[in-house]
Amino acid sequence: MSVTTRDSLPGIYDDKVIRQFAIMTVIWGVVGMLVGVIIASQLAFPELNLGLPWTSFGRLRPLHTNAVIFAFGGCGLFATSYYVVQRTCQTRLFAGPLATFTFWGWQLVILLAVISLPLGYTQGKEYAELIWPIDVLITLVWVAYAIVFFGTVGTRKVRHIYVANWFFGAFIIAVALLHIVNSAALPTGLLHSYSAYAGAADAMVQWWYGHNAVGFFLTAAFLGMMYYFIPKQAERPVYSYRLSIVHFWALIFTYMWAGPHHLHYTALPDWTQSVGMIFSLILLAPSWGGMINGIMTLSGAWHKLRDDPILRFLIVSLSFYGMSTFEGPMMAIKTVNALSHYTDWTVGHVHSGALGWVGLVTMGSLYYLIPRLYGQKKMYSVPAIELHFWLATVGIVLYIAALWISGVTQGLMWRALNDDGTLTYTFVQSVKASIPFYIIRLVGGLLYLSGMCLMLWNTVMTARQGLKVGSLPAVQIPAVAAHA
Ligand code: HEM
Ligand code: HEM
Repeated sequence: MSVTTRDSLPGIYDDKVIRQFAIMTVIWGVVGMLVGVIIASQLAFPELNLGLPWTSFGRLRPLHTNAVIFAFGGCGLFATSYYVVQRTCQTRLFAGPLATFTFWGWQLVILLAVISLPLGYTQGKEYAELIWPIDVLITLVWVAYAIVFFGTVGTRKVRHIYVANWFFGAFIIAVALLHIVNSAALPTGLLHSYSAYAGAADAMVQWWYGHNAVGFFLTAAFLGMMYYFIPKQAERPVYSYRLSIVHFWALIFTYMWAGPHHLHYTALPDWTQSVGMIFSLILLAPSWGGMINGIMTLSGAWHKLRDDPILRFLIVSLSFYGMSTFEGPMMAIKTVNALSHYTDWTVGHVHSGALGWVGLVTMGSLYYLIPRLYGQKKMYSVPAIELHFWLATVGIVLYIAALWISGVTQGLMWRALNDDGTLTYTFVQSVKASIPFYIIRLVGGLLYLSGMCLMLWNTVMTARQGLKVGSLPAVQIPAVAAHA
Protein backbone atom coordinates (compact mmCIF):
# COMPACT_ATOMS: atom_id res chain seq x y z
CA MET A 1 0.00 0.00 0.00
CA SER A 2 2.94 2.35 0.21
CA VAL A 3 3.13 5.01 -2.44
CA THR A 4 5.76 7.39 -3.72
CA THR A 5 4.46 10.36 -5.64
CA ARG A 6 6.13 13.64 -6.49
CA ASP A 7 4.37 14.92 -3.39
CA SER A 8 5.91 12.40 -1.04
CA LEU A 9 9.39 11.78 -2.32
CA PRO A 10 11.24 10.26 0.64
CA GLY A 11 13.56 12.70 2.29
CA ILE A 12 13.02 15.63 0.00
CA TYR A 13 10.64 17.47 2.26
CA ASP A 14 10.58 18.22 5.94
CA ASP A 15 7.38 16.38 6.87
CA LYS A 16 7.86 15.43 10.52
CA VAL A 17 6.58 18.76 11.82
CA ILE A 18 3.62 18.51 9.42
CA ARG A 19 2.74 15.06 10.79
CA GLN A 20 2.87 16.47 14.32
CA PHE A 21 0.65 19.43 13.51
CA ALA A 22 -1.77 17.25 11.51
CA ILE A 23 -2.27 14.79 14.38
CA MET A 24 -2.73 17.61 16.88
CA THR A 25 -5.30 19.27 14.59
CA VAL A 26 -7.49 16.19 14.90
CA ILE A 27 -6.93 15.83 18.64
CA TRP A 28 -7.63 19.52 19.38
CA GLY A 29 -10.65 19.33 17.07
CA VAL A 30 -12.15 16.62 19.30
CA VAL A 31 -11.28 18.55 22.49
CA GLY A 32 -12.52 21.96 21.26
CA MET A 33 -15.77 20.55 19.88
CA LEU A 34 -16.33 18.52 23.06
CA VAL A 35 -16.14 21.77 25.04
CA GLY A 36 -18.55 23.28 22.44
CA VAL A 37 -20.99 20.44 23.13
CA ILE A 38 -20.60 20.95 26.91
CA ILE A 39 -21.40 24.67 26.72
CA ALA A 40 -24.26 23.98 24.30
CA SER A 41 -25.74 21.58 26.88
CA GLN A 42 -25.23 24.18 29.63
CA LEU A 43 -27.36 26.65 27.65
CA ALA A 44 -30.11 24.02 27.30
CA PHE A 45 -29.75 22.65 30.86
CA PRO A 46 -28.21 25.30 33.16
CA GLU A 47 -27.74 22.76 36.04
CA LEU A 48 -24.79 21.42 34.05
CA ASN A 49 -22.75 24.45 35.15
CA LEU A 50 -22.36 22.28 38.29
CA GLY A 51 -22.24 25.34 40.54
CA LEU A 52 -18.44 25.50 40.22
CA PRO A 53 -16.66 28.60 38.88
CA TRP A 54 -14.22 26.70 36.64
CA THR A 55 -16.92 24.58 34.98
CA SER A 56 -19.26 27.53 34.43
CA PHE A 57 -20.35 28.66 30.95
CA GLY A 58 -18.54 32.01 31.26
CA ARG A 59 -15.16 30.30 31.71
CA LEU A 60 -15.67 27.38 29.33
CA ARG A 61 -16.94 29.53 26.44
CA PRO A 62 -13.56 31.23 25.78
CA LEU A 63 -11.91 27.83 26.22
CA HIS A 64 -14.12 26.55 23.39
CA THR A 65 -13.43 29.48 21.07
CA ASN A 66 -9.68 29.40 21.70
CA ALA A 67 -9.52 25.62 21.31
CA VAL A 68 -11.43 25.46 18.04
CA ILE A 69 -9.97 28.58 16.41
CA PHE A 70 -6.35 28.59 17.57
CA ALA A 71 -5.76 24.93 18.47
CA PHE A 72 -7.83 23.07 15.84
CA GLY A 73 -7.77 25.79 13.15
CA GLY A 74 -4.24 26.97 14.00
CA CYS A 75 -2.61 23.52 13.94
CA GLY A 76 -4.46 22.78 10.69
CA LEU A 77 -3.03 25.94 9.17
CA PHE A 78 0.53 25.26 10.34
CA ALA A 79 0.31 21.72 8.91
CA THR A 80 -1.13 22.69 5.54
CA SER A 81 0.94 25.85 5.03
CA TYR A 82 4.18 23.94 5.76
CA TYR A 83 3.08 21.22 3.34
CA VAL A 84 1.94 23.56 0.58
CA VAL A 85 4.89 25.96 0.76
CA GLN A 86 7.39 23.12 0.38
CA ARG A 87 5.58 21.44 -2.53
CA THR A 88 4.90 24.64 -4.46
CA CYS A 89 8.36 26.12 -3.84
CA GLN A 90 10.01 22.71 -4.38
CA THR A 91 12.33 23.08 -1.45
CA ARG A 92 12.59 22.02 2.20
CA LEU A 93 11.41 24.19 5.06
CA PHE A 94 13.77 27.04 5.80
CA ALA A 95 15.26 26.79 9.32
CA GLY A 96 13.84 23.36 10.18
CA PRO A 97 14.63 23.60 13.94
CA LEU A 98 12.62 26.83 14.08
CA ALA A 99 9.67 24.96 12.57
CA THR A 100 10.01 22.41 15.38
CA PHE A 101 9.98 25.33 17.83
CA THR A 102 6.69 26.58 16.30
CA PHE A 103 5.16 23.17 17.00
CA TRP A 104 6.18 22.91 20.65
CA GLY A 105 5.67 26.64 21.28
CA TRP A 106 2.14 26.53 19.87
CA GLN A 107 1.26 23.44 21.92
CA LEU A 108 2.53 25.24 25.02
CA VAL A 109 0.33 28.26 24.21
CA ILE A 110 -2.69 25.94 23.95
CA LEU A 111 -1.83 24.10 27.16
CA LEU A 112 -1.49 27.40 29.04
CA ALA A 113 -4.87 28.47 27.62
CA VAL A 114 -6.46 25.22 28.81
CA ILE A 115 -5.16 25.93 32.33
CA SER A 116 -5.60 29.70 32.60
CA LEU A 117 -9.05 30.17 31.06
CA PRO A 118 -11.01 27.82 33.40
CA LEU A 119 -9.15 29.42 36.31
CA GLY A 120 -10.61 32.75 35.20
CA TYR A 121 -7.41 34.51 34.08
CA THR A 122 -8.41 36.65 31.10
CA GLN A 123 -7.90 40.04 29.50
CA GLY A 124 -11.60 40.09 28.69
CA LYS A 125 -11.15 40.78 24.97
CA GLU A 126 -13.00 38.30 22.78
CA TYR A 127 -10.64 35.95 20.86
CA ALA A 128 -7.73 37.72 22.62
CA GLU A 129 -8.47 36.60 26.17
CA LEU A 130 -5.09 35.08 26.99
CA ILE A 131 -3.04 36.93 29.62
CA TRP A 132 0.02 38.93 28.61
CA PRO A 133 2.81 36.35 29.28
CA ILE A 134 1.01 33.95 26.91
CA ASP A 135 0.68 36.81 24.41
CA VAL A 136 4.47 37.22 24.50
CA LEU A 137 4.91 33.50 23.79
CA ILE A 138 2.43 33.75 20.88
CA THR A 139 4.50 36.61 19.44
CA LEU A 140 7.70 34.55 19.61
CA VAL A 141 6.08 31.55 17.91
CA TRP A 142 4.55 33.76 15.25
CA VAL A 143 7.85 35.47 14.41
CA ALA A 144 9.45 32.01 14.08
CA TYR A 145 6.55 30.94 11.83
CA ALA A 146 7.07 34.01 9.61
CA ILE A 147 10.82 33.27 9.34
CA VAL A 148 10.18 29.63 8.37
CA PHE A 149 7.42 30.43 5.89
CA PHE A 150 8.94 33.45 4.16
CA GLY A 151 12.41 31.90 4.34
CA THR A 152 11.05 28.89 2.44
CA VAL A 153 9.39 31.14 -0.15
CA GLY A 154 12.66 33.10 -0.41
CA THR A 155 14.73 29.97 -1.07
CA ARG A 156 12.25 28.47 -3.58
CA LYS A 157 13.52 26.57 -6.60
CA VAL A 158 10.79 27.82 -8.93
CA ARG A 159 10.27 31.42 -10.00
CA HIS A 160 6.54 31.63 -9.52
CA ILE A 161 4.91 31.99 -6.10
CA TYR A 162 1.73 29.92 -6.21
CA VAL A 163 -1.41 31.81 -5.13
CA ALA A 164 -2.00 29.64 -2.02
CA ASN A 165 1.24 31.04 -0.59
CA TRP A 166 -0.02 34.59 -1.08
CA PHE A 167 -3.01 33.80 1.08
CA PHE A 168 -0.91 32.04 3.74
CA GLY A 169 1.62 34.89 3.67
CA ALA A 170 -1.06 37.59 4.10
CA PHE A 171 -2.50 35.61 6.99
CA ILE A 172 0.88 35.42 8.76
CA ILE A 173 1.61 39.14 8.34
CA ALA A 174 -1.90 40.32 9.22
CA VAL A 175 -2.19 38.13 12.32
CA ALA A 176 1.18 39.43 13.57
CA LEU A 177 -0.02 43.01 13.15
CA LEU A 178 -3.43 42.36 14.73
CA HIS A 179 -2.01 40.47 17.68
CA ILE A 180 0.67 43.02 18.51
CA VAL A 181 -1.58 46.09 18.20
CA ASN A 182 -4.62 44.65 20.00
CA SER A 183 -2.63 43.01 22.80
CA ALA A 184 -0.68 46.18 23.70
CA ALA A 185 -1.09 46.42 27.47
CA LEU A 186 0.49 47.62 30.68
CA PRO A 187 1.26 44.64 32.97
CA THR A 188 0.46 45.12 36.64
CA GLY A 189 1.66 41.65 37.64
CA LEU A 190 2.29 38.24 36.10
CA LEU A 191 -1.40 37.51 35.65
CA HIS A 192 -2.94 40.94 35.08
CA SER A 193 -2.59 43.94 32.78
CA TYR A 194 -4.46 47.01 31.57
CA SER A 195 -5.21 47.54 27.88
CA ALA A 196 -3.22 50.34 26.24
CA TYR A 197 -6.52 51.73 24.91
CA ALA A 198 -9.59 53.07 26.66
CA GLY A 199 -13.31 53.50 25.99
CA ALA A 200 -14.56 53.65 22.42
CA ALA A 201 -10.98 53.47 21.06
CA ASP A 202 -10.48 50.19 22.92
CA ALA A 203 -13.69 48.79 21.40
CA MET A 204 -12.65 49.97 17.95
CA VAL A 205 -9.19 48.36 18.15
CA GLN A 206 -10.71 45.18 19.59
CA TRP A 207 -13.18 44.78 16.69
CA TRP A 208 -10.62 45.79 14.10
CA TYR A 209 -8.74 42.81 15.56
CA GLY A 210 -11.84 40.60 15.94
CA HIS A 211 -13.13 41.09 12.45
CA ASN A 212 -9.74 40.68 10.84
CA ALA A 213 -9.14 37.56 12.91
CA VAL A 214 -12.19 36.29 11.00
CA GLY A 215 -10.86 37.78 7.76
CA PHE A 216 -7.29 36.56 7.91
CA PHE A 217 -7.27 33.64 10.37
CA LEU A 218 -10.64 32.06 9.57
CA THR A 219 -10.85 33.12 5.93
CA ALA A 220 -7.68 34.10 4.01
CA ALA A 221 -5.60 31.26 5.45
CA PHE A 222 -8.27 28.65 4.75
CA LEU A 223 -8.56 30.03 1.22
CA GLY A 224 -4.86 29.19 0.90
CA MET A 225 -5.82 25.63 1.83
CA MET A 226 -8.67 25.69 -0.67
CA TYR A 227 -6.46 26.90 -3.55
CA TYR A 228 -4.07 23.98 -3.11
CA PHE A 229 -6.18 21.03 -2.01
CA ILE A 230 -9.22 21.45 -4.31
CA PRO A 231 -7.16 21.43 -7.52
CA LYS A 232 -5.09 18.54 -6.13
CA GLN A 233 -8.03 16.38 -5.13
CA ALA A 234 -10.01 17.24 -8.28
CA GLU A 235 -6.90 16.76 -10.47
CA ARG A 236 -7.82 19.96 -12.29
CA PRO A 237 -6.07 23.35 -12.47
CA VAL A 238 -7.66 26.30 -10.65
CA TYR A 239 -10.63 27.50 -12.75
CA SER A 240 -9.19 31.00 -13.26
CA TYR A 241 -5.74 31.85 -11.99
CA ARG A 242 -6.31 35.50 -12.95
CA LEU A 243 -9.46 35.58 -10.79
CA SER A 244 -7.51 34.09 -7.87
CA ILE A 245 -5.12 37.07 -7.95
CA VAL A 246 -7.97 39.61 -8.17
CA HIS A 247 -9.67 37.68 -5.36
CA PHE A 248 -6.57 37.96 -3.19
CA TRP A 249 -6.01 41.71 -3.51
CA ALA A 250 -9.70 42.64 -3.31
CA LEU A 251 -10.23 40.46 -0.24
CA ILE A 252 -7.29 41.65 1.81
CA PHE A 253 -7.92 45.30 0.98
CA THR A 254 -11.63 45.19 1.85
CA TYR A 255 -11.53 43.14 5.06
CA MET A 256 -9.44 45.68 6.93
CA TRP A 257 -12.23 48.32 6.93
CA ALA A 258 -15.24 46.23 7.89
CA GLY A 259 -14.61 45.84 11.67
CA PRO A 260 -17.02 48.57 12.87
CA HIS A 261 -20.02 46.43 11.78
CA HIS A 262 -19.53 44.72 15.16
CA LEU A 263 -20.21 48.03 16.89
CA HIS A 264 -23.38 49.36 15.27
CA TYR A 265 -25.42 51.69 17.49
CA THR A 266 -22.58 52.11 20.00
CA ALA A 267 -20.47 55.10 21.12
CA LEU A 268 -18.37 54.69 17.98
CA PRO A 269 -18.74 57.72 15.64
CA ASP A 270 -21.63 57.18 13.25
CA TRP A 271 -19.51 57.61 10.11
CA THR A 272 -17.16 54.76 11.15
CA GLN A 273 -20.19 52.49 11.54
CA SER A 274 -21.29 53.45 8.01
CA VAL A 275 -17.78 52.79 6.63
CA GLY A 276 -17.91 49.32 8.26
CA MET A 277 -21.32 48.65 6.72
CA ILE A 278 -20.33 49.76 3.22
CA PHE A 279 -17.08 47.79 3.17
CA SER A 280 -18.96 44.72 4.44
CA LEU A 281 -21.36 44.97 1.51
CA ILE A 282 -18.44 45.35 -0.92
CA LEU A 283 -16.86 42.26 0.66
CA LEU A 284 -19.57 40.11 -0.85
CA ALA A 285 -17.96 40.48 -4.29
CA PRO A 286 -14.44 39.12 -3.60
CA SER A 287 -15.85 36.46 -1.29
CA TRP A 288 -18.17 35.11 -3.94
CA GLY A 289 -15.49 35.51 -6.63
CA GLY A 290 -13.28 33.17 -4.59
CA MET A 291 -16.09 30.73 -3.91
CA ILE A 292 -17.03 30.54 -7.59
CA ASN A 293 -13.38 30.10 -8.56
CA GLY A 294 -13.08 27.16 -6.15
CA ILE A 295 -16.32 25.46 -7.14
CA MET A 296 -15.77 25.96 -10.89
CA THR A 297 -12.39 24.24 -10.57
CA LEU A 298 -14.53 21.13 -10.71
CA SER A 299 -16.03 22.02 -14.09
CA GLY A 300 -15.82 19.01 -16.35
CA ALA A 301 -15.29 16.77 -13.35
CA TRP A 302 -18.56 17.12 -11.48
CA HIS A 303 -19.05 13.35 -11.57
CA LYS A 304 -16.14 13.02 -9.12
CA LEU A 305 -18.38 14.43 -6.39
CA ARG A 306 -20.49 11.28 -6.58
CA ASP A 307 -17.88 8.91 -5.26
CA ASP A 308 -15.15 11.06 -3.73
CA PRO A 309 -16.10 12.01 -0.15
CA ILE A 310 -12.94 14.14 0.27
CA LEU A 311 -13.90 16.31 -2.67
CA ARG A 312 -17.39 16.57 -1.22
CA PHE A 313 -15.95 17.91 2.06
CA LEU A 314 -14.02 20.54 0.09
CA ILE A 315 -16.80 21.63 -2.24
CA VAL A 316 -19.53 21.70 0.41
CA SER A 317 -17.19 23.80 2.58
CA LEU A 318 -17.21 26.38 -0.22
CA SER A 319 -21.01 26.37 -0.32
CA PHE A 320 -21.03 27.23 3.37
CA TYR A 321 -18.37 29.86 2.74
CA GLY A 322 -20.69 31.39 0.14
CA MET A 323 -23.62 31.21 2.51
CA SER A 324 -21.90 32.84 5.46
CA THR A 325 -20.31 35.55 3.30
CA PHE A 326 -23.75 36.40 1.92
CA GLU A 327 -25.31 36.40 5.37
CA GLY A 328 -22.50 38.51 6.92
CA PRO A 329 -22.92 41.54 4.61
CA MET A 330 -26.69 41.38 5.15
CA MET A 331 -26.19 41.38 8.94
CA ALA A 332 -23.83 44.35 8.56
CA ILE A 333 -26.67 46.53 7.24
CA LYS A 334 -27.59 48.66 10.23
CA THR A 335 -31.33 48.03 10.12
CA VAL A 336 -30.80 44.25 9.87
CA ASN A 337 -28.19 44.38 12.64
CA ALA A 338 -30.75 46.14 14.85
CA LEU A 339 -32.64 42.85 14.78
CA SER A 340 -29.79 40.32 14.72
CA HIS A 341 -27.28 41.80 17.18
CA TYR A 342 -27.15 40.11 20.63
CA THR A 343 -29.30 37.26 19.32
CA ASP A 344 -28.53 33.66 18.38
CA TRP A 345 -28.64 34.68 14.74
CA THR A 346 -25.04 35.90 15.21
CA VAL A 347 -24.00 32.56 16.75
CA GLY A 348 -25.74 30.74 13.86
CA HIS A 349 -23.82 32.89 11.35
CA VAL A 350 -20.56 32.19 13.19
CA HIS A 351 -21.08 28.44 13.02
CA SER A 352 -22.17 28.34 9.39
CA GLY A 353 -18.72 29.84 8.76
CA ALA A 354 -16.93 27.87 11.46
CA LEU A 355 -18.45 24.40 11.11
CA GLY A 356 -19.38 24.66 7.43
CA TRP A 357 -16.42 26.49 5.96
CA VAL A 358 -13.44 26.26 8.36
CA GLY A 359 -14.33 22.80 9.72
CA LEU A 360 -15.12 21.06 6.43
CA VAL A 361 -12.24 22.54 4.41
CA THR A 362 -9.81 21.52 7.17
CA MET A 363 -11.19 17.99 7.37
CA GLY A 364 -11.15 17.57 3.57
CA SER A 365 -7.57 18.85 3.34
CA LEU A 366 -6.41 16.58 6.17
CA TYR A 367 -8.03 13.54 4.58
CA TYR A 368 -5.92 14.33 1.52
CA LEU A 369 -2.81 15.00 3.58
CA ILE A 370 -2.70 12.34 6.30
CA PRO A 371 -2.30 9.25 4.09
CA ARG A 372 0.44 11.00 2.10
CA LEU A 373 2.27 11.95 5.28
CA TYR A 374 2.28 8.31 6.33
CA GLY A 375 3.21 6.88 2.93
CA GLN A 376 -0.27 5.48 2.27
CA LYS A 377 -2.47 5.71 -0.81
CA LYS A 378 -5.60 6.53 1.11
CA MET A 379 -7.09 6.74 4.57
CA TYR A 380 -7.54 3.47 6.49
CA SER A 381 -11.31 3.57 5.97
CA VAL A 382 -12.95 5.46 3.09
CA PRO A 383 -16.52 4.52 4.20
CA ALA A 384 -15.68 6.22 7.53
CA ILE A 385 -14.87 9.45 5.60
CA GLU A 386 -18.23 9.12 3.85
CA LEU A 387 -20.02 8.66 7.19
CA HIS A 388 -18.10 11.58 8.68
CA PHE A 389 -19.26 13.80 5.82
CA TRP A 390 -22.93 13.05 6.46
CA LEU A 391 -22.66 13.34 10.25
CA ALA A 392 -20.99 16.73 9.85
CA THR A 393 -23.41 18.03 7.22
CA VAL A 394 -26.57 17.01 9.08
CA GLY A 395 -25.01 18.40 12.29
CA ILE A 396 -24.34 21.79 10.70
CA VAL A 397 -27.82 22.06 9.21
CA LEU A 398 -29.46 21.28 12.58
CA TYR A 399 -27.13 23.74 14.35
CA ILE A 400 -27.61 26.74 12.08
CA ALA A 401 -31.31 26.26 11.26
CA ALA A 402 -32.14 26.05 14.99
CA LEU A 403 -30.22 29.23 15.74
CA TRP A 404 -31.70 31.20 12.86
CA ILE A 405 -35.18 30.49 14.20
CA SER A 406 -34.15 31.12 17.79
CA GLY A 407 -32.27 34.34 16.84
CA VAL A 408 -35.07 35.91 14.81
CA THR A 409 -37.59 34.91 17.52
CA GLN A 410 -35.45 36.61 20.17
CA GLY A 411 -35.02 39.77 18.06
CA LEU A 412 -38.74 40.04 17.38
CA MET A 413 -39.74 39.34 20.99
CA TRP A 414 -37.32 41.97 22.34
CA ARG A 415 -38.66 44.72 20.08
CA ALA A 416 -42.38 43.86 20.35
CA LEU A 417 -44.33 46.71 21.99
CA ASN A 418 -47.86 47.01 23.33
CA ASP A 419 -50.06 49.93 22.29
CA ASP A 420 -49.10 51.84 25.42
CA GLY A 421 -45.38 51.52 24.60
CA THR A 422 -44.52 48.86 27.20
CA LEU A 423 -42.66 45.67 26.25
CA THR A 424 -44.87 42.76 25.17
CA TYR A 425 -42.48 40.08 26.45
CA THR A 426 -40.16 39.81 29.41
CA PHE A 427 -36.56 38.75 28.76
CA VAL A 428 -37.19 35.45 30.54
CA GLN A 429 -39.98 34.63 28.11
CA SER A 430 -37.52 34.99 25.22
CA VAL A 431 -35.06 32.69 27.03
CA LYS A 432 -37.80 30.08 27.49
CA ALA A 433 -38.71 30.34 23.82
CA SER A 434 -35.07 29.59 22.89
CA ILE A 435 -34.65 26.38 24.93
CA PRO A 436 -36.12 23.92 22.36
CA PHE A 437 -33.72 25.32 19.75
CA TYR A 438 -30.78 24.94 22.14
CA ILE A 439 -31.66 21.26 22.40
CA ILE A 440 -31.72 20.91 18.60
CA ARG A 441 -28.35 22.72 18.43
CA LEU A 442 -26.99 20.28 21.01
CA VAL A 443 -28.05 17.33 18.84
CA GLY A 444 -26.41 18.98 15.82
CA GLY A 445 -23.22 19.56 17.84
CA LEU A 446 -23.17 15.95 19.02
CA LEU A 447 -23.41 14.72 15.43
CA TYR A 448 -20.59 17.05 14.36
CA LEU A 449 -18.44 15.92 17.29
CA SER A 450 -19.09 12.22 16.60
CA GLY A 451 -17.85 12.77 13.03
CA MET A 452 -14.67 14.31 14.43
CA CYS A 453 -14.17 11.29 16.76
CA LEU A 454 -14.53 9.01 13.73
CA MET A 455 -11.84 11.06 12.00
CA LEU A 456 -9.54 10.62 15.00
CA TRP A 457 -9.97 6.83 14.85
CA ASN A 458 -9.37 6.81 11.07
CA THR A 459 -6.26 8.98 11.50
CA VAL A 460 -4.79 6.76 14.21
CA MET A 461 -5.40 3.63 12.10
CA THR A 462 -3.84 5.24 8.99
CA ALA A 463 -0.80 6.40 10.96
CA ARG A 464 -0.38 2.97 12.57
CA GLN A 465 -0.56 1.28 9.19
CA GLY A 466 2.06 3.68 7.81
CA LEU A 467 4.39 3.13 10.75
CA LYS A 468 3.91 -0.67 10.60
CA VAL A 469 4.99 -1.02 6.98
CA GLY A 470 7.85 1.40 7.62
CA SER A 471 6.95 3.55 4.65
CA LEU A 472 7.40 6.81 6.51
CA PRO A 473 9.55 9.09 4.41
CA ALA A 474 12.90 9.87 6.06
CA VAL A 475 13.28 13.48 7.08
CA GLN A 476 16.94 14.20 7.51
CA ILE A 477 18.26 14.00 3.96
CA PRO A 478 19.27 17.48 2.75
CA ALA A 479 17.10 19.24 0.19
CA VAL A 480 17.72 18.63 -3.49
CA ALA A 481 16.05 20.21 -6.46
CA ALA A 482 16.45 17.15 -8.65
CA HIS A 483 12.73 16.55 -8.87
CA ALA A 484 11.86 20.15 -9.82
C1 HEM B 1 -19.37 20.41 17.98
C2 HEM B 1 -19.23 21.57 17.47
C3 HEM B 1 -19.52 22.88 18.15
C4 HEM B 1 -20.47 23.19 19.09
C5 HEM B 1 -21.52 22.29 19.72
C6 HEM B 1 -20.31 24.60 19.42
C7 HEM B 1 -21.06 25.28 20.36
C8 HEM B 1 -20.89 26.61 20.71
C9 HEM B 1 -21.65 27.32 21.71
C10 HEM B 1 -22.75 26.71 22.56
C11 HEM B 1 -21.20 28.60 21.74
C12 HEM B 1 -21.68 29.72 22.67
C13 HEM B 1 -22.84 30.44 22.05
C14 HEM B 1 -23.41 31.50 22.92
O1 HEM B 1 -22.68 32.19 23.65
O2 HEM B 1 -24.64 31.69 22.89
C15 HEM B 1 -20.17 28.72 20.75
C16 HEM B 1 -19.50 29.88 20.45
C17 HEM B 1 -18.55 29.98 19.45
N1 HEM B 1 -18.02 28.96 18.69
FE1 HEM B 1 -18.66 27.05 18.66
N2 HEM B 1 -19.30 25.11 18.64
C18 HEM B 1 -18.78 24.09 17.87
C19 HEM B 1 -17.74 24.17 16.97
C20 HEM B 1 -17.06 25.33 16.65
C21 HEM B 1 -15.98 25.44 15.70
C22 HEM B 1 -15.40 24.27 14.89
C23 HEM B 1 -15.61 26.75 15.67
C24 HEM B 1 -14.52 27.45 14.86
C25 HEM B 1 -13.76 26.93 13.97
C26 HEM B 1 -16.44 27.46 16.63
C27 HEM B 1 -16.34 28.82 16.90
C28 HEM B 1 -17.10 29.49 17.82
C29 HEM B 1 -17.04 30.93 18.02
C30 HEM B 1 -16.16 31.92 17.24
C31 HEM B 1 -17.96 31.24 19.03
C32 HEM B 1 -18.29 32.64 19.58
C33 HEM B 1 -19.52 33.16 18.86
C34 HEM B 1 -19.93 34.56 19.18
O3 HEM B 1 -19.31 35.22 20.01
O4 HEM B 1 -20.93 35.04 18.58
N3 HEM B 1 -17.29 26.57 17.20
N4 HEM B 1 -19.99 27.49 20.13
C1 HEM C 1 -18.26 38.85 3.78
C2 HEM C 1 -17.94 38.24 4.86
C3 HEM C 1 -18.55 38.50 6.20
C4 HEM C 1 -19.15 39.61 6.71
C5 HEM C 1 -19.38 40.95 6.05
C6 HEM C 1 -19.53 39.29 8.07
C7 HEM C 1 -20.25 40.14 8.89
C8 HEM C 1 -20.59 39.87 10.20
C9 HEM C 1 -21.51 40.64 11.03
C10 HEM C 1 -22.28 41.86 10.56
C11 HEM C 1 -21.52 40.08 12.24
C12 HEM C 1 -22.39 40.47 13.43
C13 HEM C 1 -21.79 41.51 14.29
C14 HEM C 1 -22.67 41.78 15.48
O1 HEM C 1 -23.86 42.08 15.32
O2 HEM C 1 -22.14 41.71 16.60
C15 HEM C 1 -20.60 38.97 12.22
C16 HEM C 1 -20.25 38.19 13.30
C17 HEM C 1 -19.32 37.19 13.24
N1 HEM C 1 -18.83 36.59 12.09
FE1 HEM C 1 -19.09 37.25 10.23
N2 HEM C 1 -19.14 38.02 8.37
C18 HEM C 1 -18.54 37.49 7.26
C19 HEM C 1 -18.02 36.23 7.12
C20 HEM C 1 -17.72 35.41 8.19
C21 HEM C 1 -17.07 34.13 8.10
C22 HEM C 1 -16.67 33.42 6.81
C23 HEM C 1 -16.88 33.70 9.39
C24 HEM C 1 -16.25 32.46 9.93
C25 HEM C 1 -15.47 31.69 9.35
C26 HEM C 1 -17.40 34.73 10.28
C27 HEM C 1 -17.31 34.72 11.65
C28 HEM C 1 -17.94 35.62 12.47
C29 HEM C 1 -17.80 35.62 13.90
C30 HEM C 1 -16.88 34.70 14.71
C31 HEM C 1 -18.67 36.59 14.39
C32 HEM C 1 -19.02 36.89 15.84
C33 HEM C 1 -18.17 37.89 16.44
C34 HEM C 1 -18.56 38.08 17.88
O3 HEM C 1 -19.47 38.87 18.17
O4 HEM C 1 -17.95 37.42 18.73
N3 HEM C 1 -17.92 35.72 9.51
N4 HEM C 1 -20.07 38.84 10.94
